[in-house]
Amino acid sequence: MSNIKPLPGTEIYIDTKKRRVYTTNLLPGKTHFMERLRRDQGKEFREWDPTRSKLAAAVMKGAPQVTIKKGDIILYLGISHGYTASFISDIIGDEGIIFGVDSAPRVVRDALLLSRERKNIIPILADASHLTTYLSRICAVDVLYQDVAQKKQVDIFLENCRICLKPGGMGFLAVKARSIDVKKPAKQLFEEARRRIEKEFKITDFRVLDPLEKDHCMIMIKK
Ligand SMILES: C[S@@+](CC[C@H](N)C(=O)[O-])C[C@H]1O[C@@H](n2cnc3c(N)ncnc32)[C@H](O)[C@@H]1O
Repeated sequence: MSNIKPLPGTEIYIDTKKRRVYTTNLLPGKTHFMERLRRDQGKEFREWDPTRSKLAAAVMKGAPQVTIKKGDIILYLGISHGYTASFISDIIGDEGIIFGVDSAPRVVRDALLLSRERKNIIPILADASHLTTYLSRICAVDVLYQDVAQKKQVDIFLENCRICLKPGGMGFLAVKARSIDVKKPAKQLFEEARRRIEKEFKITDFRVLDPLEKDHCMIMIKK
């Protein structure tokens, strides 16, 4: 019997025995990041490394709220080379869209190459702290995912959730403590971020991602 089971209500799969995370490959036979492929139950699964992706780390740490669905429209702030985005691309399928913003031209070039194969990814070269520079190129989104490793990461998240996220939409903020302050304890910085966010949005889940992602946490909200 197969050990790969879907997380209830999600398109994310877990190998309960080996503690591995998977999505079903939107482009069977194709890999982009040397990820392992596995055939099981007549499907092809892509292995999602939780030490390379804070979203996969949150899943491994037991987050139950990662209910990104087929057809969802995503605003991804800090898409970088597109590692995590490629797995979200599997989850949302051909009907979904990822608007992937990043301020570094070198990584946006890689994301552009990825988007030639994964047609549901639209890379955008822009600074997430200047929403007006990309607002006209996106639409209201079902999910906002942010991983920008910036001092003002909470402000960026709040502003983008206020303007871009649909009512009822979900927000995921990967907080990197060391980008906010190099000296303060991570736990204190996570608590400060939580307190600021819960003044405006309902926090649905909170996970510290250590040791998979050191000094990081994931805050999930519902608008
Ligand atoms: C930790 S990496 C993201 C990794 C990626 N989320 C993944 O899991 O595959 C952080 C990214 O945020 C981008 N970034 C930092 N500040 C930004 C800003 N103000 N606006 C947009 N992108 C930013 C960096 O260029 C970098 O690519």
